[in-house]
Amino acid sequence: MKTFYIETHGCQMNVHDSEKVAGLLAGRGLIPVASPEAADVLLLNTCSIREKAEQKVYSRLGEFRALKKRKPSFVLAVLGCVAQQEAMDLIEKAPFVDLVVGTHRYHEIPHLLEQVRVHGRPIVRIERMEDPEPVEIDTVLRENNFRANVTIMEGCNKFCTFCVVPHTRGPERCRPSWQILEEVRRLVDAGYVEVLLLGQNIDSYQDPSSRKWKFAELLKAIGEVPGIRRVRFTTNHPKDFTPDILAVLERTPTICNWVHLPVQSGSSRVLRRMKRLYNLDEYLDIINSIKTLEKKIALSTDIIVGFPGETDEDFEETLSLVDRVQYESIFSFKYSPRPNTPALKLEAREGVPETAKQWRLNRLQSMQRRIQEHQNRQLVGTVQEVLVEGRARDGEKWFGRTPSNKIVNFDPDHVVPGQFLDILIVGFGPNSLQGQPV
Ligand code: 5AD
Ligand code: SF4
Repeated sequence: MKTFYIETHGCQMNVHDSEKVAGLLAGRGLIPVASPEAADVLLLNTCSIREKAEQKVYSRLGEFRALKKRKPSFVLAVLGCVAQQEAMDLIEKAPFVDLVVGTHRYHEIPHLLEQVRVHGRPIVRIERMEDPEPVEIDTVLRENNFRANVTIMEGCNKFCTFCVVPHTRGPERCRPSWQILEEVRRLVDAGYVEVLLLGQNIDSYQDPSSRKWKFAELLKAIGEVPGIRRVRFTTNHPKDFTPDILAVLERTPTICNWVHLPVQSGSSRVLRRMKRLYNLDEYLDIINSIKTLEKKIALSTDIIVGFPGETDEDFEETLSLVDRVQYESIFSFKYSPRPNTPALKLEAREGVPETAKQWRLNRLQSMQRRIQEHQNRQLVGTVQEVLVEGRARDGEKWFGRTPSNKIVNFDPDHVVPGQFLDILIVGFGPNSLQGQPV
């Protein structure tokens, strides 16, 4: 086993987990390669948030089966939420898989791969860790050298009725604040200019160390690390989004003017059935307090359409919320029934038909497209500070992000990823801006 490749599906937390696993393997002398075909060990980091994501895993595994046939020494490992959820079932459905590793056990992967090699039979390792703090893995292989993902907590205690995350990621586990700060300082020393703080329910962070910091205190300390230019964080739960977080956001210049605040639905009735722990008025109170800050904040959200029992009236309330808030972006999904979740039973009784789900999603997305076009049009003629990320999809233009997380494409110049540029905005689409360096 000399080379490895990790294919990552799903959220930023998975992307970062893959960086950690890559670091562990590289630390044992394995060499990362650019394609599954070139790898001796292939690791598939999976997502099970919606059914489609899970189906994708099985279709990818089907494709990888051919590689295994061609090279019998090839080792295939499945990590992530599908691994956690399916466990032994995964081996039954895909018997050519060598290793299944749950979300709490990544630190054991080098050892488990060795075990697979020695014993030659599949291993399933998905037991939860009892320790209230996640096991520290030093991330030495990151996606780039200017923006770093930093986990501050994992897991979720909320149990929204539609969601698998509390089952696949387990209960909340927070890293001690000193450890997080040490990591951020090290990153800045190594030249990183931006950190993206990660947690499934980041604003419910509770420092397990004797300092007992809450999220706002940690955020402030990270924003004040000398040399840091941009701090972002995701994802929040409205119930935990307390005024002290807003105060820190307003007063700390390095903290980006972007807040992701998933609402899921604009109907209090649906929110109750989702067990979201807030109603529409309480959510709107938070939005209003964000909008009254002097610092102009870009808002984004997650919305589910077609939750079981959602009526046309409920959906109209979602549309009217979106119209009222004027989010800079939304992530919208059709409700997808998930195993072990309470909404699964509701779906059997009062599921919304697929055609209605699709129609609602289309309406929501076309409304949001208009909102974004309108917002982006207003930015033409302004100058934005952009952190250059890399080549745009067309391979010719460059792209980067504003502090508010907007994507800006611009023409070639002498730039390198990680550089800050002032860009004059000259054009726009619904999802991005076009500009010229000034
Ligand atoms: N069906 C559809 N969307 C879901 N999400 C979570 N669970 C489901 C589900 N069962 C969405 C929520 C969440 C985002 C990460 O994924 O909007 O905020
Ligand atoms: Fe899932 Fe709700 Fe926890 Fe978010 S807060 S991870 S939607 S259970």
